Amino acid sequence: MASIFPETVLRTDSLVLRPFSRADVEDTRIAASDELTQTWLPLPLPYTLDHAVDWCTRASHALRDSGDGVHFAIADPDTDRLLGTIGLRKTDWRALTTEVGYWIAPWARGRGVAVEAAREIGRWALEERALERVELRAATGNLASRRVAERAGYRQEGVLRNAGITHGGRVDLAVYSLTPDDLDHSHQEGR
Ligand SMILES: CC(C)(COP(=O)(O)OP(=O)(O)OC[C@H]1O[C@@H](n2cnc3c(N)ncnc32)[C@H](O)[C@@H]1OP(=O)(O)O)[C@@H](O)C(=O)NCCC(=O)NCCS
Repeated sequence: MASIFPETVLRTDSLVLRPFSRADVEDTRIAASDELTQTWLPLPLPYTLDHAVDWCTRASHALRDSGDGVHFAIADPDTDRLLGTIGLRKTDWRALTTEVGYWIAPWARGRGVAVEAAREIGRWALEERALERVELRAATGNLASRRVAERAGYRQEGVLRNAGITHGGRVDLAVYSLTPDDLDHSHQEGR
């Protein structure tokens, strides 16, 4: 069954997940050009102002319209400043599976933003969109992202050999997933 994600805003204790807008262009350009972002994600290099304008005003919205996924801007609830992005793509509406991806801006790293956003988008996908599996793939060498997966409650399943691409070459991908069972367990454990 073909479907699409709704255009919506999600709120957690310290974050707002909302659609991208033109106001995010300059922060997107800076964050997507950042060395760590470019180390692990095969984004255009150089990442120009045109790329940022296209992503914020067209491509991120087209992704949702296509049914493939949805991409949220992670924003500060007080200032609305962009802190990063998190989204779902490669959604299979028949199998009810999807894949999460994210980057956090250099000015927002190291304070739990990715963990909180990954937990919330997983919960939303499984509890509110009725999906059955959210997959997370991270290069085996991307220790920060793997830690995010673990702390957000995703369980590691294995390693896909030679499955990913970065500007530095091909990489093995550690595969994690979140399923409805994991949410039930986290409730039971009182987390
Ligand atoms: C990975 C990334 C999203 C993490 O974002 P973040 O908001 O800083 O992450 P959090 O603060 O929520 O948590 C990071 C966790 O990783 C740990 N970590 C950070 N850098 C690390 C490193 N180099 N090695 C090991 N652990 C690391 C942190 O200590 C923290 O774990 P802790 O809470 O147990 O201490 C961010 O570094 C980033 O944008 N990287 C570039 C893009 C990217 O890799 N995207 C993911 C592709 S799969």
